[in-house]
Amino acid sequence: MTLTMLMNELAEHRREHPTDDLTSALVHNDLGEDMLAPHEIAPFFILLAVAGNDTTRTATTLGMQLLAENPDQRAIWQADVDAVTPTAVDEVAAPVTFMRRTVTHDLELSGQDFAAGDKLILFYGAANRDPRMFDDPEHFDVRRDPNPHVGFGGPGPHFCLGAHLARRELSVVFRQLFARLPDIEVVGDAVPLEAMGIPLVGGIKHLPVRFTPTARVGA
Ligand code: HEM
Repeated sequence: MTLTMLMNELAEHRREHPTDDLTSALVHNDLGEDMLAPHEIAPFFILLAVAGNDTTRTATTLGMQLLAENPDQRAIWQADVDAVTPTAVDEVAAPVTFMRRTVTHDLELSGQDFAAGDKLILFYGAANRDPRMFDDPEHFDVRRDPNPHVGFGGPGPHFCLGAHLARRELSVVFRQLFARLPDIEVVGDAVPLEAMGIPLVGGIKHLPVRFTPTARVGA
């Protein structure tokens, strides 16, 4: 509610006093009927805040836990960060649990009949472990290539808007972790995220780690 009010107030202000920021671009453009309606601005802002924050944060933690569980894979990644990072980030970039879709017309899919209006859920974790698509799908493999995962959604208009940014962020985070805290290690049990039902961005609330502090860059 607080975020909604904050964004509505900002949008209102930018309508009268545009600047060169994103909010001004959202309320002043020539997209016609494709332009976001006033009541859509706050949900869009919250979508960006959650989609761009919870995901990469959780992927970092899940990645750290996977590295602790698979020390051989950590050794491979850490030994050649430049070469392995591009494939490794895709192997950890899958924290989103599910999305829901509404069927728009009657169809049969994988032997199931669906009628227009039916709701269905896409479980990304199941698709990302489909043995028809992946060799040894349960194995955490930082050099998996090709990696046709759908952690950023399937092809189509809703494919993750921030997929490239997310890959970049994860590359930078793990590169910096290995460079500056090379002995970082998990030292306790992960505390899972609690949610009513299945969390949309699944995973870990806390993961205790230990590392030898290094000097701040530039200090
Ligand atoms: C590891 C990080 C990330 C993962 C795993 C992820 C995953 C996803 C998934 C599964 C979807 C839904 C696709 C669908 O409905 O078919 C999605 C949509 C979206 N993501 Fe990401 N995301 C990540 C990072 C980001 C970042 C950093 C941003 C932006 C700063 C972002 C912005 C969005 C937006 C705006 C949508 C909605 C697109 C639409 O429905 O038109 N995501 N993401």
